[in-house]
Amino acid sequence: MQVLDGKALSEQIKEELKQEVDTIRLAGGKIPHLAAVLVGDNPASQVYVRNKVRSCEQVGFQSTLIRRPADVSQSEILDIVKRLNEDPDVDGFIVQLPLPDHIDEDAVNLAISPEKDVDGFTPINIGKMTLGLPSYLPATPNGILEILHRNNIETSGKEVVVLGRSNIVGKPMSILLSRKGQPGNATVTMCHSRTKNLAEHTRRADILVAAIGIPEMVTADMVKDGAVIIDVGINRVEDASRKRGYRLVGDVDYAGLEDKVSAMTPVPGGVGPMTVVSLLMNTLKASQR
Ligand code: GUN
Repeated sequence: MQVLDGKALSEQIKEELKQEVDTIRLAGGKIPHLAAVLVGDNPASQVYVRNKVRSCEQVGFQSTLIRRPADVSQSEILDIVKRLNEDPDVDGFIVQLPLPDHIDEDAVNLAISPEKDVDGFTPINIGKMTLGLPSYLPATPNGILEILHRNNIETSGKEVVVLGRSNIVGKPMSILLSRKGQPGNATVTMCHSRTKNLAEHTRRADILVAAIGIPEMVTADMVKDGAVIIDVGINRVEDASRKRGYRLVGDVDYAGLEDKVSAMTPVPGGVGPMTVVSLLMNTLKASQR
């Protein structure tokens, strides 16, 4: 089985980005600047945002982290978004999700200027993506496209099953893999919590994208011999043998599938690092507008 090493690929792409930033700096151009808004103290979100900021530093981008406590008001978040929309130095920004329950995520998303929406989450960018127009592609699906592309995994004419229908991953992933393009041209089935006879669908998949958020849910009996597995899940499961008390597992039973599939992304070190790199690529694009 081929391990689809997103960590190594992300380091390679970051090196490419760093060289582009060096070229921009030498030419006296604008250094890309990403801002991130982090609300509350969700442990996973803190890790993700820290990785995003650290990756900016690695490639020479400027970054700004704006933190607010979990009880921040919606109007303050909307004010921050407005300020970032208007700040000429900030090329792109993200509001890390999930937000606390009292904040209307849709209202915050709708307030983000599409030109600075480097997450590719706003209606304009989702709409453009759906129509096949140039746009900021959502980071996780775009990272998965890079993994497929750079590992020469053919998608044209293949049966793809996407497990999960979130706005962040499942929905855009199914659109991108079925679009006319490379990677793309796949026959996509989207499965979710109400899908009946799930294994009958997943067993047809040449490429299975698991983004359902249930630890190790995809087991060997659910996949076809030789399938390509993309595991988007990052789940914390209790593990007393670890110092931190938990370990990270994907949505796929990695050990159970290893001898059956042709290629698979590990967790951690698969899709996660590529998500961050996609965000950096979108930010570079934003700075060159
Ligand atoms: N939460 C989980 N993934 C993401 C992401 O890609 N962007 C943002 N803003 N929040 C997330």
